Amino acid sequence: MIPSILLISARMLAFMCLLMSCSGYLILHEGEKCGENKEGACESGLICVPSEPPMDFYAEGICTRVPNCNCSEFQCPPRRRSCYSRMVTDPCGCCSHCPKRKGQVCGGPSWKYGNCDSDLVCALTVGIESVTSPQTGVCKAVPNHLKNVLVRPPCPVQYGCNVHVGTCDCYSDQSCEASFSYNTYDACDKVLTADRMYFYEEKQPDEPEPPKPEYVCNEYGCEVQSCKCVCGYRKCVYFSTPMYEADCCNLLKESGCPNATCPEIPAPPCPADSFISEPHIEPGQCCPVIPAVCTCNFQTCDPKPTYCPNRGLPKLIVKGNGHPGTCCDRYECVNE
Ligand SMILES: *[C@@H]1O[C@H](CO)[C@@H](O)[C@H](O)[C@H]1NC(C)=O
Ligand SMILES: *[C@@H]1O[C@H](CO)[C@@H](O)[C@H](O)[C@H]1NC(C)=O
Repeated sequence: MIPSILLISARMLAFMCLLMSCSGYLILHEGEKCGENKEGACESGLICVPSEPPMDFYAEGICTRVPNCNCSEFQCPPRRRSCYSRMVTDPCGCCSHCPKRKGQVCGGPSWKYGNCDSDLVCALTVGIESVTSPQTGVCKAVPNHLKNVLVRPPCPVQYGCNVHVGTCDCYSDQSCEASFSYNTYDACDKVLTADRMYFYEEKQPDEPEPPKPEYVCNEYGCEVQSCKCVCGYRKCVYFSTPMYEADCCNLLKESGCPNATCPEIPAPPCPADSFISEPHIEPGQCCPVIPAVCTCNFQTCDPKPTYCPNRGLPKLIVKGNGHPGTCCDRYECVNE
């Protein structure tokens, strides 16, 4: 009895594998379901847009062509050895990169300038809205009472794997935090196996050396080449930290290279309800392509008062429009 049950379940498994394509990474087409813990991704140009309403157990979506998202239009920001916080991705799902910090440029066509850290919103430089591709914005902190005005756009559903307690843990997640270290089980397993081999070698020096799976590490860095910073990916050098643009450009300046110094642009005037954004420098360059601008600091926006003394009532004095000087709604307590 037991063997026949085993036989049936083995057949069932083989049949299910035929249906679900157990081996290999799935390329999903327009209109197909994605996420759902399926090892695969929507084909290039499509985004796994989360289903409504969201699922409880695992993220699920539909491969959709989203207007103004084309990941082949640009190169992803280079991967740095370490970020100051968790890597993020963007609503177009194009790149995972170090998050942009408060005051840094974000958004742009297909989010090519990147997405903000998870507690910030990529807001228009002028106005009270969050950006959608191809608009360019600035990463800003938003007080709670404006969180339903400045809404973070939805993030795509992604499938991936992480090493968890010594095994590859693979699942789907809807998030703009790039929470996966590997795209496929195989990619994860390869690195895990390489690590195990390493330990095995250390413990048993007399054993013949097992063939090591090849794992090539590349990292981004810059070097000075005749008054230029040449930046790109090269083989990892574990004992030294890579040099990035800022340090490379300083080196150029120090060694008196003719055009390493960028033209000075005076900071624009900026009222008290606003702040000056960071100029944006493209990877591999020294001088900004997007200058610093004065933009609203929504943290200066107070909510409408819920209480006024002496039976007063809150009255709208200034209607906020997201322009420096009139960033927020301003109320005053008045007694009729
Ligand atoms: C996306 O961009 C690439 C490169 O610019 C272009 O060749 C391609 O046609 C674009 N795709 C769409 C759907 O616009
Ligand atoms: C800097 O100088 C080099 C060669 O002298 C030139 O090719 C390059 O365009 C210059 N860059 C800028 C930003 O002026």
